[in-house]
Amino acid sequence: MTRSPSSPPSKPMRIALLTGGGDCPGLNAVIRSAARSAFALGWEVYGIEDGFEGLLTKRVHQLHARDVRGIIHLGGTILGTSNRVSPFRTGGASAEDADRSGEVVRNFKEMGFDALIAIGGDGTLSIALRLSRKGIPVVGVPKTIDNDIADTSVTFGFDTAVATATDAIDKLHPTAEAHKRVMVVELMGRNAGFIALNSGVAGGADVILIPEIPFEIEKVCEKIRDREKRHRGGYFSIVVVAEGARAKGGKLHTKSIDKNEPHRLGGVGQWVADEIAQRTGKETRNLVLGHLQRGGAPTTFDRLLGTRFGAAAIRAVKDGDFETMVALNPPTIVRIPLAQTVGNGRTKQVPLDSDVVMSARGLGISFGD
Ligand code: F6P
Repeated sequence: MTRSPSSPPSKPMRIALLTGGGDCPGLNAVIRSAARSAFALGWEVYGIEDGFEGLLTKRVHQLHARDVRGIIHLGGTILGTSNRVSPFRTGGASAEDADRSGEVVRNFKEMGFDALIAIGGDGTLSIALRLSRKGIPVVGVPKTIDNDIADTSVTFGFDTAVATATDAIDKLHPTAEAHKRVMVVELMGRNAGFIALNSGVAGGADVILIPEIPFEIEKVCEKIRDREKRHRGGYFSIVVVAEGARAKGGKLHTKSIDKNEPHRLGGVGQWVADEIAQRTGKETRNLVLGHLQRGGAPTTFDRLLGTRFGAAAIRAVKDGDFETMVALNPPTIVRIPLAQTVGNGRTKQVPLDSDVVMSARGLGISFGD
């Protein structure tokens, strides 16, 4: 949505940046790139602390060149983040009390901001879209290690998470082999299997279980017995399980949650490990890699993509192209209407006919189907 300014701006544009949802490697690269691109235009840049929480409580500080120096290679986010607070649902007594979005819009205007760059996943960008409809000029930057945001071929953070997971699988191999054990590793990804699929294939896993392909535990065990048979005297197997994977007809494995939080996945790895141990008699161990996948220095790919996204977001603000999201459509960065991508359940999943899935099948990797 392009809004052309009615008169040339007399004072420097004031841009607010926030990071929302789970952190992810590459966020600081985006912040640095957006800030530096804005400084080059003579604009002022403000960092909102801890996502939308900071807009509610006016925890905002001006960013200067020194604040964004030396951060391109750092994980986390210098602004802080939160995946618990939506200004539309703050946990007040009634729905009306709970909706504090009006306050957010008021605060935004009182602080004299001209545009908000919201860096986040589907949840954060959906909130940003709703705030845009209430008068905040927004440009979105998609981020998530899960790579599940539609309309961008990839999100930054994903490459780093896959590298971390692959490294973990590499490290499990020798200990699995030494003890002739089955090692199960549960990986993140929410309802998408990209991290498990890519790291599983790159790490030489024997079984990969992803949300897109409901599995039969007996088929998983068959693969393990088969490997055992072909190597007399016992053999090891590596089973990679996405946290959102589930058995055919079975339920998602979730952790106990408080009602104000989004649901948390976890536990399927232990279930798979217990079933394998019981059905095959093989000694089996389970590892939950967890938040290690969100940490560490971003890979070169993620730093570069974050840098490209940050700079592209400032170009969108400069063009007055609001209510959009920057996205990668290789080889270029494009702008997508936010409403097309977020807040409508259109998340991305592994296509079953993708060449990675087909190649994995060709190599004899089992998906348990
Ligand atoms: O969306 C990123 C992600 O790391 C998911 O892969 C995972 O399910 C979730 O966030 C974990 O959230 P939290 O940090 O709140 O436990």
